[in-house]
Amino acid sequence: MDMRTVTLIQGDGIGPEICQSVIDIFAAAKVPVQWEMAMAGLEAIEKFGNGVPPETLESIKRNKVALKGPTTTPIAGGHKSVNVTIRKALELYANVRLAKSMPAVETRFENVDVLIVRENIEDTYAGIEHMQTPNVAQCIKLITRQGSMAAIRYSFEEARKLGRKKVTCVHKANIHKITDGLFLTVFREVAAEYPEIEATDIIVDNCCMQLVSRPEQFDVLVLPNLYGDIVSDLCAGIVGGLGVAPGGNIGRDCAVFEAVHGSAPDIAGKGLANPTALLLSSVQMLQYMGLIGHASAIQNALESALAEGVKTRDLGGTASTAEYTQAIISRLVLDGVDAQTVPMTNAAAAELPVISENWTLVGADVFIEHKGGLPQMPETIGPFTLRLISNRGTKVWPGPTPDILLVDHFRNRYVADSSVTRNDVLALLQELTAMGKHWCHVELLNQVAGEARYSKAQGE
Ligand code: NAI
Repeated sequence: MDMRTVTLIQGDGIGPEICQSVIDIFAAAKVPVQWEMAMAGLEAIEKFGNGVPPETLESIKRNKVALKGPTTTPIAGGHKSVNVTIRKALELYANVRLAKSMPAVETRFENVDVLIVRENIEDTYAGIEHMQTPNVAQCIKLITRQGSMAAIRYSFEEARKLGRKKVTCVHKANIHKITDGLFLTVFREVAAEYPEIEATDIIVDNCCMQLVSRPEQFDVLVLPNLYGDIVSDLCAGIVGGLGVAPGGNIGRDCAVFEAVHGSAPDIAGKGLANPTALLLSSVQMLQYMGLIGHASAIQNALESALAEGVKTRDLGGTASTAEYTQAIISRLVLDGVDAQTVPMTNAAAAELPVISENWTLVGADVFIEHKGGLPQMPETIGPFTLRLISNRGTKVWPGPTPDILLVDHFRNRYVADSSVTRNDVLALLQELTAMGKHWCHVELLNQVAGEARYSKAQGE
């Protein structure tokens, strides 16, 4: 079988010890992988003044796959997190974590085996935040068709490759009708391309409740960034915590796999480190590379060592890192592993369609800063009619103003009977400025064939 080169970043603290365990197990399992060492973390900062030298990024881009040990982020000195730097530089659009019950790790649940795919770039993590008034903060939740599609396609590709039966989209589209609604729409479009896989969806709060009562019902979960961040840690807790949680970051052209835990400086160099999480990350990496047989062989050997009571100290055992590694090696069964190799696929490489629509501009939501009760706003300006004023999303005009807390941030929805231009909107803003209205944020209101491309206010 062809050898493939993988970038190996050993990292800091226990990183080199747990990486050595993976190197030894891969060699014993005859995995057709050769390592290219690259540097990141403290050593790189000392040598190059940069936690992620350009050579390391080049190595990952060249080899397309990397395994990374944990890296220490110095608290002082303003060094950026190595993980964030790598994720941004390589546009790693999906985060994938496995939550699987392990024999030696006692938890309330058995037979949990959930693969969690989280969109990794967008949502509220795009970091578009502004104070609107001294009392009102706003963060833009950005969901794109392309970003959603890349992550969702990846979840279905993995399900198909690993013989998993069901993909569940986790969302809050009942409330976030437009943003999560787009994520769910894209999910349904993509699901139609994989008829052999059951596609379901669930509201995120119900999903959390179900996960902590009957987690074994889930197979693959795919989520927007924020829900994914929270739900993936919840899933790690269900199977015994972050110590045995593997993970990977999947990009357009490359992928980086790593354990979720840190560099554990307190036990570094003592032979006590548990390599399980990094080894499970390397199993995910092999699955990504299509080396399904080798991945299963290593996973089975790991589970059988644990089931027979060989554990490191953190799991209540006495084995050193080296003894635990040997126990896994001695349990490897390699018959027929090569036959289970499938081509490496890259879901994001598939076309990500950009759709076009003929939008008609019909108005604008003009947000103003205003203290002390309902603002007096003109009911018509040019082609626009004031349709509603809302405060924190609740309609406060027309009709009786509900008895609610009013903050100093009012939305005024001005809509025309027919299409308007951006110049009309500018004239609207100039008029409001001339009247002393302190506008702080504007959103355009568009329609397609009479259908709004914006949400209604509560009570509208
Ligand atoms: P940590 O995960 O390194 O350690 C927390 C506790 O868990 C410690 O008692 C440690 O001994 C234990 N532990 C962690 N992994 C273990 C393993 N494989 N085997 C046995 N015991 C293990 O978290 P901490 O102490 O908050 O962070 C230490 C450093 O790691 C920091 O500089 C932090 O920035 C970095 N870090 C790096 C990550 C990464 O590169 N992916 C992720 C999280 C933290």
